Amino acid sequence: MKLSSSLALIGRTPLLALHRLSPPGSTIWAKAEFQNPGGSIKDRPARYILEHARASGSLSPRQPVVEMTSGNMGAGLAVVCATLGHPFIAVMSCGNSPERVRMLEALGAEVILVDQVDGRPGKVTGADIAAATLQAKRVAADRDGFYVDQFNNDGSTAAHELSTGPEIHADLGEELSAFVAIVGSAGTFVGVSRYLKRQRGGIVCAAVEPAGAEVLAGQPLHKPQHLIQGTGYGTRPPHWDPRLVDAYLAVTDEEVIDYKRRLAHQEGLHVGYSSAANVCACVKLIQRGGLGDAPQVATLLCDTGLKYA
Ligand SMILES: Cc1ncc(COP(=O)(O)O)c(C=O)c1O
Repeated sequence: MKLSSSLALIGRTPLLALHRLSPPGSTIWAKAEFQNPGGSIKDRPARYILEHARASGSLSPRQPVVEMTSGNMGAGLAVVCATLGHPFIAVMSCGNSPERVRMLEALGAEVILVDQVDGRPGKVTGADIAAATLQAKRVAADRDGFYVDQFNNDGSTAAHELSTGPEIHADLGEELSAFVAIVGSAGTFVGVSRYLKRQRGGIVCAAVEPAGAEVLAGQPLHKPQHLIQGTGYGTRPPHWDPRLVDAYLAVTDEEVIDYKRRLAHQEGLHVGYSSAANVCACVKLIQRGGLGDAPQVATLLCDTGLKYA
């Protein structure tokens, strides 16, 4: 297979049947998003946003690109910036794992770390994200940079509505009973659910949140410090659309540790905590019942496990 650049490695990921973890009679299908060149699902919005910004003229050739990132959007942007010839500045909370900083720097990014407000290493809170966002906006203004703004940029949902959703539908079509996704910026859940519901109204779309940070499900924020980095910030993301949600599911830190190990030991997949949360939530949804005979549930393996301690 001949490809013209690493951009062509983004998307069209395989859909894997997790037969060893699926409850009897069901199949959990997981998209291998860790196969993207930046190692995560965020390569998709990174590519979409920067290509559209260049096409519309809001990003000039060689202009610096700036973003607040928990790491994965940064890695995606670093891949795309390297390929398109833009300097990339990633502004990140100190609470993210050092492995993430190393990966960004290895891809040529400049990393600016921002002190945590109320989180601690490995546990990044909404207040930590707000502090890093403020700093990213300052850096973008100071350096005449293009500020990506993944939480507000429509490209975060469009990328999934135009690629991830259609890919899942092409592979499973009418067989698909439900779609399950954890929420960070909400780009994945909203974009994919929008597309799938347009294809078939009856599909069940389930949103996943860390237990104790179930604010989208209408619960008070008890546990801002959880293990599932890149998700569950304790606030409603700007792209959030509750009309797309048929079920809310919560997953504890203990459950994600268990499922991260099970995915590695039983399926041979060394993936991150949000992938473990997605698969655990699929099992919970299937066990609740109501999805018909032999349900087929699609979800995402959002990133590799190599970045986590
Ligand atoms: C590891 C991981 N999983 C899941 C998500 C959530 O994806 P989205 O921002 O599309 O809701 C993110 C977002 O950064 C992430 O880094």
